Amino acid sequence: MCGIVGYVGPNADDKALGVVMEGLARLEYRGYDSAGVALVADGEVVGDKKAGKLENLRAALEARDLPPSATAIGHTRWATHGGPTDANAHPHRGGTDNKLAVVHNGIIENFHALKNELLEQGVEFRSETDTEVSAHLVARAFEEAGDLTEAMRQVVNRLEGAFTLLAVHADAPDTVVAARRNSPLVVGLGEGENFLGSDVAAFIGYTRNALELAQDQIVTITPTSHEVINFDGSPAEGKAYEVTWDAAAAEKGGYDTFMEKEIHDQPHAVRDTLLGRTDETGRLVLDELRISEEQLSGINRIYVVACGTAAYAGMTAKYAIEHWTRIPVEVSLAHEFRYCDPIVDERTLVVSISQSGETMDTLMAVKHANELGALTISICNTHGSTIPRESDAVLYTHAGPEIAVASTKAFVAQITACYVLGLYLSQLRGKQYADDAKNVMAELAEIPEKIETLLGSMDRVAEIARFMADSRAVLFLGRNVGYPIALEGALKLKELAYIHAEGFAAGELKHGPIALIEPGQPVFVIVPGPDTPHDLHKKVVSNIQEIRARGARTLVIAEEGDEDVVAFADEVIRVPQAPPLLEPLLTVIPLQVFALHLATAKGLDVDQPRNLAKSVTVE
Ligand code: G6P
Repeated sequence: MCGIVGYVGPNADDKALGVVMEGLARLEYRGYDSAGVALVADGEVVGDKKAGKLENLRAALEARDLPPSATAIGHTRWATHGGPTDANAHPHRGGTDNKLAVVHNGIIENFHALKNELLEQGVEFRSETDTEVSAHLVARAFEEAGDLTEAMRQVVNRLEGAFTLLAVHADAPDTVVAARRNSPLVVGLGEGENFLGSDVAAFIGYTRNALELAQDQIVTITPTSHEVINFDGSPAEGKAYEVTWDAAAAEKGGYDTFMEKEIHDQPHAVRDTLLGRTDETGRLVLDELRISEEQLSGINRIYVVACGTAAYAGMTAKYAIEHWTRIPVEVSLAHEFRYCDPIVDERTLVVSISQSGETMDTLMAVKHANELGALTISICNTHGSTIPRESDAVLYTHAGPEIAVASTKAFVAQITACYVLGLYLSQLRGKQYADDAKNVMAELAEIPEKIETLLGSMDRVAEIARFMADSRAVLFLGRNVGYPIALEGALKLKELAYIHAEGFAAGELKHGPIALIEPGQPVFVIVPGPDTPHDLHKKVVSNIQEIRARGARTLVIAEEGDEDVVAFADEVIRVPQAPPLLEPLLTVIPLQVFALHLATAKGLDVDQPRNLAKSVTVE
């Protein structure tokens, strides 16, 4: 969380400020409780910072007459230490005449000790943040070393925790220095100008040439150079790559909100995630995987680690992977994994799922798995992010940038990628379902078109959502792969509409939650297709009857042609037919649309719900 942007260009004009403000707008999903900028101009550092959304900062800047500048940094904040006030907003300043400014993403865990040390030396603090210590320390180191890179190097070696730090100094114009440990940072390489950002969205309007940094590295950018060193001072090189999507992909494309656009991106997200996964004979080939087939065929246990929506993608995938591979799969919330003494050895495959690739809880789980000797695969949507780098292998989802805080298209892409992985493992092991891999891939290939059809029939769902804007609680029921979808439907509503919502396994209802049902209580029920094994369809239809008999208002999501549900449903929401394991890729869509429209009807900001951040880079 927190977005950071840096820029150095050839001319002192308005461009530096413009680039940074544009970058902050694109990174605002990472945090939006305050924002600030610092510009190097005429031998001083000037700028402003304001609590609240970026608009507040924009208005404050418009009211000022800032000098032209070629060097700027900016920050959009998700508060950790110190509330969202002007004083706690970044940049933080340090040094004689406040000549230094820093912005920071992460948490400096030993800031108390460092702050006490500085207080004893008479330094005055102006904020309650952990970040401010780094401003004073870098400023002091610069006054001694006379070199901003060296000053940064000395200081980062004293910091504990996670951080991306960017610094500018009035006496080092045309330079931005950045350091990273366990927090995201990418470099954008332009012609006569260079950029820094928490992710490439920060500078995608200017360049697609990006440079990925490893952990514990420092980069110094000037208009015409970029130099990378390790924290120990030894020279290093970043890894160059080209961003394959363009600025339009990070914009709203005619929709009112990013979330609505991203819901409509879902056919592409699934289609692109399936691209290039098979050879001419139809066998799955996962080129990106850097783990040998031999190692992978030896695994006897799979752990999935993830948080939030990504964890529900993992829960969905568990059913499919176990079915296809007969390998036991355990899904663990990443923040629980490390502390539950997991049974992991070199024959365990730990699959992390993360849209951003930066979620600290998930990253720490991956590191723990590595320490325990497991094989680690990251399913990730963000090239150059930390979790894939820390994993033995990566399978990228190709959902494109997801900007809205609540995840939608990344979710369907994650399920798709997990399924591809499951089918690949089953193919490798030559187990009973190996021959089916081809058929399932063909069925998956039909999903994007089905999502498109479904998206074309969502008017009634939007209408129901608007009618229900005053609901106090909504329940969601599902069974088998429908169960994680019920959880995801409830999460979407909590995140976006601030309504109490809960998902249950439909079979569990009679063991307690049915007591919640009172006349008029809305309940979504995700009904498995009539072909689902073990008579699950009939059992869920019985569950609908049970709650209807107690007065529930039943909103039933069922396959086209399933007439059994009609008698017990207040509303039937139809989804195209699909094989049982692939149904989640469809049944989740009306639930996303429902949450979007209900929150919109309540006048809420669906792209940036309160208290949340898209990329949670603290534990
Ligand atoms: C945050 C977001 C969720 C997201 C979760 C995991 O909590 O608000 O929407 O599902 O992080 O994010 P990741 O980037 O790891 O998928």
